Amino acid sequence: MKLCIIGTGYVGLVTGACFAEVGHHVICVDNDVAKVNLLRGGGIPIFEPGLEELVRKNTTAGRLHFTDSIKEGVEKSDVIFICVPTPRQPDGSVDLSFIEKVAREIASAIDGGYKIVVDKSTVPVKTGEKVAETIKRYCKAQAEVDVVSNPEFLREGFAIEDLMKPDRVVIGVTSQRPVAPLREIYAPFNAPFIVTDINSAELIKHAANSFLALKISYINAVAAICEASGANVEEVATGIGLDARIGRRFLNAGLGFGGSCFPKDLSAFIKISEQLGYDFQLLKEVERINADQMERFLKKITDTLWVLKEKKIGVLGLAFKQNTDDVRMSPALDLCLRLQKEGAALRVHDPRAMEKAKAVLKNVTYVDDMNAVADGCDALVIATEWPEFKRVDLERAKREMSHPIIFDGRNLLDPAEMARLGFVYKSIGR
Ligand code: UGA
Repeated sequence: MKLCIIGTGYVGLVTGACFAEVGHHVICVDNDVAKVNLLRGGGIPIFEPGLEELVRKNTTAGRLHFTDSIKEGVEKSDVIFICVPTPRQPDGSVDLSFIEKVAREIASAIDGGYKIVVDKSTVPVKTGEKVAETIKRYCKAQAEVDVVSNPEFLREGFAIEDLMKPDRVVIGVTSQRPVAPLREIYAPFNAPFIVTDINSAELIKHAANSFLALKISYINAVAAICEASGANVEEVATGIGLDARIGRRFLNAGLGFGGSCFPKDLSAFIKISEQLGYDFQLLKEVERINADQMERFLKKITDTLWVLKEKKIGVLGLAFKQNTDDVRMSPALDLCLRLQKEGAALRVHDPRAMEKAKAVLKNVTYVDDMNAVADGCDALVIATEWPEFKRVDLERAKREMSHPIIFDGRNLLDPAEMARLGFVYKSIGR
C-alpha cells in the first residue's frame, strides 16, 4: 500500500522503516529540512538499535522516501499516519497544536478521492473527533476521508521488535470502511487486531501507559517496605510476577520511571480525567511515589556521604533507560543535576547518551571508558539499567576509588558479590 508518515521522530521513523520493510511504499514527511536531508543521505538523527540499517536498506530498495512536503506525501498516498509530538504543557495537559496544524495541512493537500488519516501520536481521548472536524472544515476538494486512531506501543530501544512483533494492533474507527485497508497494512505483523471506536482506542493508549507506570510505582513502594523490613524486592517481584495475572515485567524497582512517555501520559490522563469530571487520585499517587523514589535515593547517598560539597562521584548512566540515547525526563540526568546542586563534582559515562546530555549537564567530566568513571571518586552511582554496567571492572574501581562505596539505583549488581569484593553497597529494596 502507499503510505505517508508525517513526523520522523522515534515513532514516525520506526513505523515508516518497518512498514517499508514489509513491502509497503512509504513517504516520510518532516518540516525540518535539515533532518530530511540527513535521512536522504542515509543518516539518522536518533540512536535506535537496528534502525539505521533498516532505513538504509529500504531507501536503497526504493520503498522508503523522505520529503519536507506534506502535499507530496498526501497526494501520493492512500493512508496518512500522523506521528507528530504532543508535548506536555505546564499544567499537565497536552499541547495539541502540532496535531491541529498537520490536520489542517493534510486537509488542504487532499485533492479528491478516498483517504484514510490515522492518528498514531499519543493524544487524550476525544482528540480524534477534533481531527475529523478539522479535516472536514479545511478540505475544499471533493473527497471522502476517514479518521482512525491507531495508538503505538513502541518502547525506545526495542522499537523495531515491538513494531514487527506487536502484542496487539488497536484501530479506533467511526465506520467500517478503513478497517480492511488497515488490516492489510498490518497483516505482515501477524498480531491480534482489535477494532474499537475512536475514543476507546485513544483511551487504550493512556490507560496502558498509566498502568505500566502504576506497576513500577507499586514495586518501588514495595521496595520501601522491603528496606524497612529486611526483605528483598527482587524475590518479592519474582514471587508475585510468576502469578500469570500479575506478570514479572515492569516490576523492576529502581530510580523510578522517566522518558518522554510515562510522565507526560500520566499527567495528561489525570488532566483529561479531571476535565471529564473524574479525580484520578490513584494516578496522582503513582506520580507522587515516582517523585519520592528520587528523594529516597538521594537520602541514601547523603546518609552515607553526609555533605556532598567537595565529594567526587562517578555516575554510570545518563539515558532514561537502556538501549537509547534519549535523556528526556531522565531520572539519571535528574539525579546528576541534584548531586551537582549539592556541590558534588561528577565524572559521568553513558554508552550512547553523552552527546545529548551535554546540552543539559554541564561542568562535569564526561568519561569515555566506563571502567574509568569511578577513578578517584568517593562513591559510584549506577543510574541507568544498561546491561554492560554489570561488567564494569570492579577490581579496578576498588583500587582506584578513594572510598569503595556503590549506590546502585537499578539493582544491576549482586549484593553478595559486592560484599565479597569489600564494597559498601546500597541498592533499592534489597
Ligand atoms: C513506553 C511504553 O513501554 C511503550 O509501550 C509506549 O509505546 C511508549 O512508552 C510510548 O508511549 O511511546 P518507553 O517510554 O520507551 O515506552 O520506555 P519503557 O521501557 O516503558 O520505560 C519507561 C521508564 O520506566 C524508564 O525510565 C525505565 O527505566 C522505567 N522502568 C521500566 C522501571 O523503572 N522499571 C521497570 O520495571 C520498567
